[in-house]
Amino acid sequence: MNFSNSEKLFEEAKRISPGGVTSERQPSKFIPGKYPIFLDHGKGSHVWDVDGNEFIDWICSYGPLVLGHNNENVDNAVVENIKNGFCFTMFHPIHNTLINKLLEIMPWAQMAKILTSGSDATAAAIRIARVYTQKDKVIRWGYHGWHDWSYGGAGTDRTAYGVPKSAVSDVLTFDYNDLDSLEKVFNKNKGSIACVIMQPFESSKELPKEGFLEGLKKITHENDAVLIFDEIRSGFRVALGGALQYFNVTPDMACFSKAMANGYPVSVVIGKKDIMLPSQKTRISATFFPNTFPMVAALATIKELQDRNGIEYMWEQGRRLVEGFESMINDFGIEAEMAGLPVIPMLKFLYDDPDKNDKARNVFFSDVAEKGILLHPTHHWFLSLAHTKKDVDDTLNAAESGLRKVKKI
Ligand SMILES: Cc1ncc(COP(=O)(O)O)c(C=O)c1O
Repeated sequence: MNFSNSEKLFEEAKRISPGGVTSERQPSKFIPGKYPIFLDHGKGSHVWDVDGNEFIDWICSYGPLVLGHNNENVDNAVVENIKNGFCFTMFHPIHNTLINKLLEIMPWAQMAKILTSGSDATAAAIRIARVYTQKDKVIRWGYHGWHDWSYGGAGTDRTAYGVPKSAVSDVLTFDYNDLDSLEKVFNKNKGSIACVIMQPFESSKELPKEGFLEGLKKITHENDAVLIFDEIRSGFRVALGGALQYFNVTPDMACFSKAMANGYPVSVVIGKKDIMLPSQKTRISATFFPNTFPMVAALATIKELQDRNGIEYMWEQGRRLVEGFESMINDFGIEAEMAGLPVIPMLKFLYDDPDKNDKARNVFFSDVAEKGILLHPTHHWFLSLAHTKKDVDDTLNAAESGLRKVKKI
């Protein structure tokens, strides 16, 4: 495959923007030279890059595209909406309509606040918890966005360039699936923890052990802290109401974004009334929060997910994909596993030798990319309603050739 237009655009981008493109979209996050850097357009489950190469898109912009690219119902609703103006000083009634819909889907909650990005929602959720508890410290686990409080330090292996130590001095972490480690953090910080914020699960890691999420909730409440689930990746995909619905453990608040509006910028903090209400004293306000078109997109996306039994469909196709991979991994005797849940799966090579692992990843993902399959080499993949049975079959066919090559290394 030729990527010369992509490469030219990237050279230009590096001259005019730091890093050229944002970190998670840089060639180093994929297989340099084997993946496109700039895309041109998308339709359904397929994307075309600026060199005219076509791919089945299993990355879905890291999650938002739950209905696929250019979904006509959602995009037409947005076009109709913007014809009437969408950026108002005062709120539009669509705000109430969307919140009522979300509360119907998540009957454990009584209030919600609409925002723009996932990072907005997680930052707002911990602010709300701090107002409610009048305590400062936060226990987190996993990724919650790029803001100072959550970037680097606790719970990630990233170097916190540009984040002052003071910004994370009240942010602690613990080990997933290890309730003792959570209790230790609480005991060491008696009376000063406002909340625990975490994804119920993370596809690249292990799934929650039996009783872990329930135990986490119990320990958090025993310490008068608020439990917040970050459902930004899992919401409207694992289940409409997120992984908390699937694992059947309700938090005090939860954050949703990504798949909620098929790519339009919207997020929500949803939760218990007594916990959220005091936050009216603080300022969680931004210019674009009242914009109507992302809310219209969210309502249209949720409608389509419900009308088409979307969650079931994604699980069905996800299972076919995962089972197909698993049987080839097994047949070929390759050291690898499919991690996560079928709607957010991930291929992990498990060779002890890190060089062999890197080689296997390079060989496999280069091979499938060359065959027009865009699978993330180091992050998980996302199912959408636009992925057809044929997309799954084509992907498994390409994967067979890729895994055969891995077997030979
Ligand atoms: C679990 C989780 N939380 C929060 C965020 C931050 O969302 P955003 O990138 O929209 O700010 C992300 C984004 O990838 C995420 O995966």
